[in-house]
Amino acid sequence: NVQRDFHEDWIKEGLVGSYLGIEGPEEINRLQKIAVEETRLGIPLIFGLDVIHGYRTIFPIPLAEACSWDPELARRTASAAAAEATSAGLHWTFAPMVDIARDPRWGRIAEGSGEDPTLGSAFAAARVKGFQGEGIPGYENLAACAKHFVAYGAAQAGRDYHQVDMSAQTLHDVYLPPFKAATDAGVLTFMSSFNDLNGVPATGNHYVQTEILRGDMGFNGFVVSDSNSIGELIPHGFAADRAEAGRLAITAGVDMDMVTESYRWEIPAMVADGRLSIDIVDLAVRRVLRVKFLLGLFEHPYRGSVKDEARACLSAEHRKLAREAGIRSMVLLKNDKNTLPLRGSSQIALVGPLADNAPDMLGSWSFTGSPNAVVTIKTALAEECSNLIHVPCSNLLTMSIKEIEAAVKAAMEADVIVAVVGETAAMSGEAASRQTLGLPGNQEQLLIELKKTGKPLVVVLSNGRPLALPWVAENADAILESWQLGVEAGHAISDVLLGLEAPSGKLAASFPYSVGQVPLFYNMPSTGRPAGDFKFTSKYIDGPNTPLYPFGFGLTYTKFEYSELTVACDGVTLELSAQIKNTGLRKGEEILQVYVGDLVASRVRPIKELKSFSRVSLEPGRSKRVSFSIPVSTLGFYNSEMKYVVEPGKFKVWVGWSSAEGLEGEFTLA
Ligand code: NOJ
Repeated sequence: NVQRDFHEDWIKEGLVGSYLGIEGPEEINRLQKIAVEETRLGIPLIFGLDVIHGYRTIFPIPLAEACSWDPELARRTASAAAAEATSAGLHWTFAPMVDIARDPRWGRIAEGSGEDPTLGSAFAAARVKGFQGEGIPGYENLAACAKHFVAYGAAQAGRDYHQVDMSAQTLHDVYLPPFKAATDAGVLTFMSSFNDLNGVPATGNHYVQTEILRGDMGFNGFVVSDSNSIGELIPHGFAADRAEAGRLAITAGVDMDMVTESYRWEIPAMVADGRLSIDIVDLAVRRVLRVKFLLGLFEHPYRGSVKDEARACLSAEHRKLAREAGIRSMVLLKNDKNTLPLRGSSQIALVGPLADNAPDMLGSWSFTGSPNAVVTIKTALAEECSNLIHVPCSNLLTMSIKEIEAAVKAAMEADVIVAVVGETAAMSGEAASRQTLGLPGNQEQLLIELKKTGKPLVVVLSNGRPLALPWVAENADAILESWQLGVEAGHAISDVLLGLEAPSGKLAASFPYSVGQVPLFYNMPSTGRPAGDFKFTSKYIDGPNTPLYPFGFGLTYTKFEYSELTVACDGVTLELSAQIKNTGLRKGEEILQVYVGDLVASRVRPIKELKSFSRVSLEPGRSKRVSFSIPVSTLGFYNSEMKYVVEPGKFKVWVGWSSAEGLEGEFTLA
């Protein structure tokens, strides 16, 4: 409702090249018309927006979707988001975020694909293809943006925008691969990050934005700064003033200035007085123009219409996809005595602050969506169950003792309790780092009181990051991690609770016991003193080293048996296979994961690293041999001379059902 000044006069003067944050085909195309028809060169504008996990149809948060281990699903949801956003006139999304995140305190872990470079790379490529389509983008595609370059996810102590200090090897082995995958998938743009890397802010970092990105990775689109990250070179103490900040950024290889307006105001003078070479400016201009050409903006500058928008947005087809994505994103963390699925005839007490909550199901970066479009858990369960008692709750942070008592009273009358607890949408995403990883407010108190009723306790978690919940893990009968699933959250959760669908997701990030273990990730390097009974080994005196739930972990409604691992390596390809049998009573899906560990190398290597994975669907009683072919060239690392090498010697392999459990074998690389 705020009257916004779009500086139409600046467009006419040719001083505007792009807009961020404008929605709606009429406004976008009105401004575009000025650029195309009333400027000297008629260069179309490019309109970008944060379409992160859906436009109007909000899909699961990216971290949730990564738990599907189904990149094709991510391609489909990104493609649906692009169809909606282009119908509304947009050209460009600031997604996917492909930052590896190993610290759940960092709120932006919600926006990425978790802690692993192999899984992260698969999702990075899939999302780029989903937004952009294959090959040259069509009019229903958005230009994608791989962000944030680089190592933003490694912010020290999980505090957003904080410094990053890491070895070149870790940067190359862990943090760069998803960006490389996005580049290989044809991503048209990159975004430079806020953080400094080893003392040089990424936005003014020539080594990162030019040598690595253009030189090593072969990227040839354009780089946009993050929002005011050029101006922030000043508080970083890296530039004295805005002109200097702009000069450093454009020289580093950042082609477009988001928000700071240094390029707009200071470049002409700096070129005139010789501080900045016109060649550097020309290069940036050429890169931006090239993307505008590739997007077809010169032939077809106007996109979308009110009619297109009405047809595409929140269509039945997109809602169906959101429900499917929601089902596949959930992770069943515990299910004692087959508490789940719920029996249809049971009396269910549905309690907790997120049981009938619409806004928080959307997760962070969902400002283009609306809570009005959300099906809550209560609404969805009520469609299926006649025996539902729902106890309303005011708010996650203010839940009172009286509200807890009402929930307990309902629980005593029911056969089973379903308690929906977790985080609000605002507790993750940008600028939402946490120091603690428990359930906020008195939600754990609610669970403790419910447990005392002796009724089976099903905890449905809805949150944007891994949480540390040892009490819940110990005391709940079943735990379903549902993350923040978007507009169809209620239906997806109800489908799984009632057993119409089986959960099949696996964690894309480890769940710690306590915040003191963080950063905690499965692919930790070996130590010289592995934890053991002896005191002087690498461990804590007050808690375990192992996570509460490891990366790759997740249960389902049936059981699988695994056997007969075969391993063969001819020096070029590692061939593996394993037998898997569904020994339970219903059809199920398992995600088999291949991990490899290099036993002796010239640098200390992770104990194991994910190299491949495969989703297997099996009817009860049926078995199948699952095979993997892994190029030996992917088993290497950056050595002390920063050369990528695959070193000969002994390797261990696991074909697992989580990063902590699997069939073990080994092979020798000659
Ligand atoms: C800042 C965020 O870091 C980035 O991810 C986002 O795309 C921009 N703001 C634009 O909203």
